[in-house]
Amino acid sequence: MIDIENLRFSYPKQTDDTIKGINFSIKEGEIYGFLGPSGAGKSTTQKIITRLVNGFQGKVWIMGKDLKNWNNDYYNHIGVGFELPNHYAKLTGLENLKLFASLYDKFPQNLMGLLEQVGLAEAAHQKTQDYSKGMKMRLNFVRALIHDPDILFFDEPTTGLDPVNARNIKNIIKDLKQQGKTIFLTTHNMYDADELCDRVAFITEGLIKAEDAPKALKLKYGKPLLNVEYEDSDLKSVEFDLKNLGQNQEFMKIIKKQRIISMHTREASLDEVFVKITGENLTNIEE
Ligand SMILES: Nc1ncnc2c1ncn2[C@@H]1O[C@H](COP(=O)(O)OP(=O)(O)OP(=O)(O)O)[C@@H](O)[C@H]1O
Ligand SMILES: [Mg+2]
Repeated sequence: MIDIENLRFSYPKQTDDTIKGINFSIKEGEIYGFLGPSGAGKSTTQKIITRLVNGFQGKVWIMGKDLKNWNNDYYNHIGVGFELPNHYAKLTGLENLKLFASLYDKFPQNLMGLLEQVGLAEAAHQKTQDYSKGMKMRLNFVRALIHDPDILFFDEPTTGLDPVNARNIKNIIKDLKQQGKTIFLTTHNMYDADELCDRVAFITEGLIKAEDAPKALKLKYGKPLLNVEYEDSDLKSVEFDLKNLGQNQEFMKIIKKQRIISMHTREASLDEVFVKITGENLTNIEE
């Protein structure tokens, strides 16, 4: 559905390329995660593919057609959730959706139904200037779905949402995958990426440093650990490499001598994989 070849881009008046030659392909029905620290070029890549910025080098093919050859019909096929919500402040939530719906050739979705899906039915007739940040984010999210597009782009869709609303958005994204949609998900939330994505790409400083299924990356770069909590005047917590655990003298000593409170194995996280690959720590920049 999406084929990117040697993509390069620099913003006007900038000497260095923001995107420095990246390649990736997204298959139909796949959720593809773009994961990386602030300033890596995630939103810029989404903006290039959704034609919010132009002047790139390289090839961008969408649904088997060069992006440069698509006319405005392109927007009937893609739905875009922007990084920062931009609604008409004086219009209500429902009026905003109606206005955007009028830009498409068809809008098969029931607009009130969409608002209901993200818990905005009661706020449908309230001006968006009076919406909270999370409400604006949720309206922004469903705006991408109005015309039931084949490809969806979501830029940080759960940022600024409380856990219940974030969970709801993630469930809707999973439903969209079930319906066969192709989804490009930009995030620096490793948990969201791990849960939702079939494959993720780690991007930093305009380059893709690794790309694979989350599970495969964790197996390749992470090491499974055993976490042991024991009581020794106070509660202690230690971690051991699962490999050759039986030969680990410190572990054997604790097992024999201490009162064990809990023991559980821990899979490597995408965060640890990211640190290994890039030397940068994602958690430090999480909002
Ligand atoms: N309109 C612009 N003009 C000039 N430079 C820009 C512009 N937008 C972004 N940049 C620069 O391009 C780089 C990549 O920005 P981008 O928004 O793609 O990052 P990101 O990976 O989405 O980060 P974040 O996680 O903070 O959203 C940054 O160095 C940023 O300063
Ligand atoms: Mg961004």
